[in-house]
Amino acid sequence: MKETANVPTIFIIFGITGDLAQRKLLPALLSLYTKKALPARFSIVGVSRRQFSREEFREYVRQEMNVEPHQYKGEDIKHFLDHIRYEQALFDDKNSYIRLADTLESIDAQWKICSNKLFHLSVPPSFYELILKNLSVSGLTIPCGGNEGWTRVLVEKPFGNDMSTAESLDALLGSLFKEEQIFRIDHYLAKESVQNILAFRFANAMFEPLWSSEFIERVEIKLLEKLGMEGRGNFYDSVGAIKDVGQNHILQMLTLIAMERPSKMTANHIRGERTKVLRSLALIEKRNIKHNVIRAQYDGYVSEPGVKKESRTETYFKIRTFINNERWEKVPFYLEAGKGLKEQEVLIRIHFKNDKAPDQKNVLTFSIQPNEGIDILFWVKTPGSGAEVEPKTLSFKYKDFPSTATIPDAYERVLLDAIMGDQTLFASTEEVKWAWKFITPVINALHTVPLYVYQKGSSVFDN
Ligand code: BG6
Repeated sequence: MKETANVPTIFIIFGITGDLAQRKLLPALLSLYTKKALPARFSIVGVSRRQFSREEFREYVRQEMNVEPHQYKGEDIKHFLDHIRYEQALFDDKNSYIRLADTLESIDAQWKICSNKLFHLSVPPSFYELILKNLSVSGLTIPCGGNEGWTRVLVEKPFGNDMSTAESLDALLGSLFKEEQIFRIDHYLAKESVQNILAFRFANAMFEPLWSSEFIERVEIKLLEKLGMEGRGNFYDSVGAIKDVGQNHILQMLTLIAMERPSKMTANHIRGERTKVLRSLALIEKRNIKHNVIRAQYDGYVSEPGVKKESRTETYFKIRTFINNERWEKVPFYLEAGKGLKEQEVLIRIHFKNDKAPDQKNVLTFSIQPNEGIDILFWVKTPGSGAEVEPKTLSFKYKDFPSTATIPDAYERVLLDAIMGDQTLFASTEEVKWAWKFITPVINALHTVPLYVYQKGSSVFDN
């Protein structure tokens, strides 16, 4: 572990009993703990509205945390749980924050140091303002001074609900924290196979000269899921597929495919180049929306718990967009995502032109998950006296790496980078702003696009 990552740290997780905390955050922290990647002195303070004794809370986590029983030794889980405390709090109650401050102080007193504090808002975005303001008023986010005892805040997407709510959230965050204290999570950026996009592009000189409209015909970015609502119907129904994964994960994958090589590989330069792509996205005008956007809902969606009976929320979309710059002139980017589909498949496909033999195109596929890897489709002569060619594939799969090099979970990377203060894999305020600028007109005109219905578990929209 790097020295700077070994400073005593407290993770304060608001919404500890929720789906995200139990499904992603705690398993990631447990995994980091067993790999000895967390600071030697660390504590997790879980905050939520429910009443639990310390023991009841540990039992709850033991039951709810999404880990396979055989994955860890019982004693590892027990020792990990020893680092967790529970703090019952009402998010609008000032006294709750005073009690939280006392708890944090008591941990610091025990450690005899002013520790680092990482506040994670794992709550519906409607609570952000309330919690952030109370945190600030109660002085909980004031660092100790100098480099010792920093405070950072991790916020989850969606950052706002449209352009204007995103701006207000940003203004609020900006009034309470410095930009270097704010970590806006888009966990797709932290996926190993997503980070590999830049590495692959810039480490393999044979592709970069082909990386433009001169040689590329179209790009497809797909985030298709088999899962349905999984108990998140209420939240999902208020956002829909475009805001849930389009405004963030899909657009971030697009930036990595389309961006220019940064002059330096630093967080600011990389985020700056990603922003330039988002700024160059061609806005879809209302009168053109029907030709560029498809939306659909799976049959039975309105019967999911938490979903309104008359809901018109899309569980599937496909958007065609263009990037207004020299490199990508006239190359369509197809952005597609859906739930309740036949297969889980997250991938990016680059289709190369072949004007002389239009039936024989090369395709480069980044498989983001599952079966992370890269495939190149190329053409070879069929053996024999004829001159026919047929497609073959050159493949690389992450699972071919030696077993020691398992792919780290995206949330492990997110949490470690936040401790290290490295913002490369987090969205900047500018990126969030420009992503909304592109998505907001689509959302506003979406009601003019027909809402198709598809069968759950089908692949009707594959083409
Ligand atoms: C989340 C969305 O941000 O990303 C979910 O809210 C979606 O609806 C999830 O299922 C996909 O992430 P992953 O890592 O499971 O592919």
